Amino acid sequence: MTNPLHAAYYADSAVQQRVCVVENVPLARDTFRIRFHCPQIAKRILPGQFVMMRLNAGDDPLLARPLALYDTVLDGDQQPVGLDIVYLVVGKMTGRLAKLSAGSDMEVWGPLGNGFATPPTDHLLMVAGGIGQTPFLALARQYLGQRVYGGSPLRLTPPERVTLCYGARSGVYLAGVEDFEALGVRVRLSTDDGTCGHRGLVTDLLRRELDGAGEGTHVVCCGPEPMMEAVSQITAVAQVPCQVSLETPMACGIGICFSCVAKVRDGQGGWDYQRTCVEGPVFAAERIEW
Ligand SMILES: Cc1cc2nc3c(=O)[nH]c(=O)nc-3n(C[C@H](O)[C@H](O)[C@H](O)COP(=O)(O)OP(=O)(O)OC[C@H]3O[C@@H](n4cnc5c(N)ncnc54)[C@H](O)[C@@H]3O)c2cc1C
Ligand code: FES
Repeated sequence: MTNPLHAAYYADSAVQQRVCVVENVPLARDTFRIRFHCPQIAKRILPGQFVMMRLNAGDDPLLARPLALYDTVLDGDQQPVGLDIVYLVVGKMTGRLAKLSAGSDMEVWGPLGNGFATPPTDHLLMVAGGIGQTPFLALARQYLGQRVYGGSPLRLTPPERVTLCYGARSGVYLAGVEDFEALGVRVRLSTDDGTCGHRGLVTDLLRRELDGAGEGTHVVCCGPEPMMEAVSQITAVAQVPCQVSLETPMACGIGICFSCVAKVRDGQGGWDYQRTCVEGPVFAAERIEW
């Protein structure tokens, strides 16, 4: 199927697999990293893309849930053979996922969605709120030339700076900070309760980073919608390009059900609904009608 207007176009380009959990370890309060073996998806997935995951035991919840690529897992020959997904326990599926142990199986399909655009930049500035840091580890690694995703190397001059501004309710929820630091990413933290980093909002950190040094910066953002809206307003005023990765709830993940639509501006003063699962989840921030 070659027509992107046809639902099968997206379904046909994804792989559905029963996968085996390799490990499922806590990273922070209510937050886990699950690793599973799935070479076919791991070879093709790009930063910013996601997979749909469904538990095999029973039909509750019936529907799969979307979760972003945290990173690929390489074998001894540096070939991608698995995926790491980092998730926050919020409800039924993630609650049950947290109880899976090594050897359990699940159903996964992907890679799905468009992934991040990767324009050349002097300063890649990643802004994350809540569990919104998850799509950024692979993106940072890709920009820094430390790993190939999707089978072809990205021929980019690495940015002079790669920064993560990451805000959470409290220090106990900050997950994976050391993974970013290990890549050489500058990490700036904020918490609502002041238990770690700046006491206040992640947008305060963003303003500091942009203050007088916006030129050559490219912002990517993921987190709760009000935070993404605030980030898109700040970057618009600073005239800095910004991509947002939406976390709209999804039912099918492959363009069929239209449960995941967002209002996206058409560039002629109007807007239309677009499906976050196939036209997104990454959009230019100025196109979103918040
Ligand atoms: C493209 C994409 C990538 C994502 N990547 C990640 C990731 O890497 N890690 C991660 O932890 N989560 C991620 N999410 C969010 C994740 O899909 C939801 O948290 C998950 O579906 C919750 O399932 P559940 O059955 O545990 O919760 P449910 O029982 O379905 O819901 C529990 C509560 O959470 C609310 N809720 C559910 N989903 C969302 C949502 N998307 N936004 C706001 N509120 C919601 C429900 O309204 C309900 O109040 C992503 C979402 C999208 C669309
Ligand atoms: S989740 Fe079904 S169309 Fe997007």
